[in-house]
Amino acid sequence: MGGCSILLRHPALTCGPAAPAQRFLASSLSALRPAATHVPRGQGHPLAALPGPPSWPLMGSLPDVLWKGGLKRQHETLAEYHRRFGKIFRMKLGAFDSVHIAAPCLLEALYRRESSFPQRLEIKPWKAYRDYRDEGYGMLILEGKDWQRVRSAFQKKLMKPREVAKLDATLNEVLEDFMHRIDDVCNQNGQIEDVYSEFNKWSFESICLVLYGKRFGLLQRDVEEESLNFIKAVKTMMATFGMMMVTPVELHKGLNTKVWQAHTRAWDDIFKTAKHSINCRLEKHSTNPQEDFLCDIYSGGQLSKKELYAAIAELQIAGVETTANSLLWVLYNLSRNPHVQQKLFQEIEGVLATTESPSAENLKNMPYLKACLKESMRLTPSVPFTTRTIDTEMVLGDYVLPKGTVLVINSHALGCNEEYFSGWTQFKPERWFQKNSINPFSHVPFGIGKRMCVGRRLAELQLHLALCWLVRKYRIIATDSRPVETLHSGTLIPSRELPIAFHRRSGTC
Ligand code: HEM
Repeated sequence: MGGCSILLRHPALTCGPAAPAQRFLASSLSALRPAATHVPRGQGHPLAALPGPPSWPLMGSLPDVLWKGGLKRQHETLAEYHRRFGKIFRMKLGAFDSVHIAAPCLLEALYRRESSFPQRLEIKPWKAYRDYRDEGYGMLILEGKDWQRVRSAFQKKLMKPREVAKLDATLNEVLEDFMHRIDDVCNQNGQIEDVYSEFNKWSFESICLVLYGKRFGLLQRDVEEESLNFIKAVKTMMATFGMMMVTPVELHKGLNTKVWQAHTRAWDDIFKTAKHSINCRLEKHSTNPQEDFLCDIYSGGQLSKKELYAAIAELQIAGVETTANSLLWVLYNLSRNPHVQQKLFQEIEGVLATTESPSAENLKNMPYLKACLKESMRLTPSVPFTTRTIDTEMVLGDYVLPKGTVLVINSHALGCNEEYFSGWTQFKPERWFQKNSINPFSHVPFGIGKRMCVGRRLAELQLHLALCWLVRKYRIIATDSRPVETLHSGTLIPSRELPIAFHRRSGTC
């Protein structure tokens, strides 16, 4: 693809010499163009005119991506492409053709034209398993009216701050155990050998208590066999589906490959435990379902049992690593910015009495804590991008995108763009208090629109409470000053064991 010539044709959408104001105006004006199912001739440039990285026959830009550090560094390569080609560009990776956007005006335009049932890229291996075993689909893979029905059943509980706030005591129960666990696993310097896995245990235990109403005991010294198998099944399922995303899943299924077998066995185990736990919970609250979080959702009558099982299993899978990873990153950022940590500690001390557990109500008086999390999710997001498959032709950024185009919405590239966040390399929670300085469409760590993360409020409550417990009890210390890079492995994870230590503050028990 002739990336350079296309670049010259549309300087307003590149990082070329056009003045920022001109560039902003040009893309804003094109973003304001009304939604169009049919685009009259002459209104926008064709898809082929989009700028983008060099593309080779069959492989597309894969060699360039590999050359620049491979798929593990794809987020950095994509951010670099945005700096080079502008707010919107096109890229092919093998047969996978996509259009990438990273500008608030384009995200806003997309949001305003969103259809009733927005779609993400299909997760075919998951669908193949569900069809094979006649299991249901959850929110991550459902589409159309079925997605909307299931989503609305959960949204009533999960997206309402007042409803989610009721879960604070449940989350605190796990956090209290987690504090003991940290004391247990820290060495004399306050370091944890496998900090990543310890934090994943916390979020696994936490989300399972919310969804299944049951403790799995992962924060204890001796973990039960059933819980270990469950956690192992989730790991195997996650480790095997990537391969079947890039090679046809039908082939794996037809040939009964090892990957397909492992994937299937893993889902079998997940569904077995999920179904058993959900059935127990429904039975326990059968006389008064309204008193229970899950039973209340089910008693609304919008979901079949099959859908309930699938939706819960997917909520659990979506909520573990994302949350654990986000907490680790914010601790890392605090360790590198002791003055921020001190300010946060003072805020927490000012709101909570010495032995008081933090509540959702307390959090309302902790704006700095919320700003710390926001800032961390900007600088070191857990989920760097999301996708949309557009179901109607539309003009975006002056280009006509045909129906079926896959859009990659790059929140990571937005967060590290000087135009939207001045001094973007610095961890500066204070920036969130400057009035009108940040466009809401430039910070989308949970996605946008109707398909935005349905667990957002729950994740935020978990993370805010966890920060209160951790920062009140420990000083989070940086054990070295070497940079820690982010690697893409589904979520953006640290490139090495996080160099942090937990030092007990004096007077805490
Ligand atoms: C810090 C933690 C989390 C982050 C950063 C995160 C991020 C995201 C993102 C970026 C999306 C895609 C949204 C879009 O396409 O616009 C998403 C979707 C989703 N997330 Fe989360 N998430 C987190 C925690 C959770 C938790 C705790 C749950 C479960 C309770 C959850 C459940 C889901 C589900 C079910 C979807 C699909 C929603 C749909 O398609 O309707 N997430 N998340």
